[in-house]
Amino acid sequence: MFDELSIVSPKRNKRLQTGWEGFFPYYAGFPELFANEILKSAGLAEGAKILDPWNGSGTTTYAADRLGFSSVGLDLNPVMVIVARARLLAPSEADHLRPLAATILSQARAAQGTLDPEDRLLAWLAPETARFVRAIEKNIRRSLVGSLTKSADGIHLDRISGTAATLYVALFGMCRRLVAPYRSSNPTWLRCPKPQEQKVAVSMASIASWFAANVRGMTRALVALQETADGGESFSKSCTSILRANTTSVSLDPESVDFVLTSPPYCTRIDYTAATRVELAVLAPLLATDAKSLGQQMIGSTQVPGHTIAVSEEWGETCGKFLEALRSHHSKASSGYYYRTHLDYFDKMSCSLARVSKALKPGGSAVLVVQDSYYKNLHNDLPVMMAEMAANHGLTLGRRDDFHLRSMSDVHPGRKTYDRPKGANESVLCFSKH
Ligand SMILES: C[S@@+](CC[C@H](N)C(=O)[O-])C[C@H]1O[C@@H](n2cnc3c(N)ncnc32)[C@H](O)[C@@H]1O
Repeated sequence: MFDELSIVSPKRNKRLQTGWEGFFPYYAGFPELFANEILKSAGLAEGAKILDPWNGSGTTTYAADRLGFSSVGLDLNPVMVIVARARLLAPSEADHLRPLAATILSQARAAQGTLDPEDRLLAWLAPETARFVRAIEKNIRRSLVGSLTKSADGIHLDRISGTAATLYVALFGMCRRLVAPYRSSNPTWLRCPKPQEQKVAVSMASIASWFAANVRGMTRALVALQETADGGESFSKSCTSILRANTTSVSLDPESVDFVLTSPPYCTRIDYTAATRVELAVLAPLLATDAKSLGQQMIGSTQVPGHTIAVSEEWGETCGKFLEALRSHHSKASSGYYYRTHLDYFDKMSCSLARVSKALKPGGSAVLVVQDSYYKNLHNDLPVMMAEMAANHGLTLGRRDDFHLRSMSDVHPGRKTYDRPKGANESVLCFSKH
């Protein structure tokens, strides 16, 4: 049934991250080419609705939009909601970006105001640097975030305009550059400076020129899009929603989706919010939740769940055996911390898959990109576990394509102590709903 589907490698490729895709390189994302090929070859009817429940940087929603399909992208991390929203900015808006950025910069220079001593940017930045970055952010918020977007419990990120989102992404890029000394080769992690370390101090002129350069680059990428064959026309034909939502509790219209294309959070003990710490600090005045409680809600959270979770038969046989082996592993904290965080992962994943499956129309399809990993010497065969779990939620596996890659799990503890294969296996799993 999936013979016609064109599946290229879902591995991120720096060379392919040009234009818009390069402005917020997301280590967890799959390439535009991968999403584009799948959606083009899926035989979808005009008006088909596509869902990506773990939309990240918005690759699926962007590809769907360009092909003229309606789509919905969900993500719990507000940073990723803004990035996915920005990616949908219509090329016709390119003209406004540079003058807007210039106005925002001159307003920020003229009136920097005082900085809240609790401002989260102070974790990395010296006070004067943080004050100017915050002044830019305040001016984006004042000029572009309207009253419809604001509410008592924070900002309705779903209603943020494409222009505001784009300027926030330019600011994120500038902040990433500022905190570069605190990044390591591990793309999933940004550390805070130690008390004896100096915080980043950069002149206002450099900050302004980095921000302006990002906006210029984004404008150029949008203009290039406008010059492509369809002139970016499909942007206005399709209907795309980017929503901030938790897949374990989101309410989706039953049998409303034709096709799901997604890559669920990995089970590699990666805190998805850690890589976006500085962006979350930029957004802190817009958010009702703090970074810690956001981290707790994430699938793949590194925090121990606050409630007891029992293994469920719905998770499948392979998952049950893996969890039992993990619980009885001799190494420190296996039966405690690691067992409990893995239970949390599978519990949230099963809940989410049930919701995603319900939202699919009968006869609809779901393509999931899933990576395996190792816990010490134990193989966490997530592709097999996901296939079994999905079967228990009404989804039948029809095709599986495997790609080998160097993996982030290589950077985790245990790599040196235990004998296990290098890298990881990324599988593209294609399901259909009866
Ligand atoms: C593997 S990434 C998806 C990357 C995406 N395919 C792209 O191209 O950028 C998984 C995403 O799931 C999100 N996520 C984790 N837990 C979630 C939850 N409970 N509800 C919704 N999204 C969640 C993370 O923030 C992360 O962006």
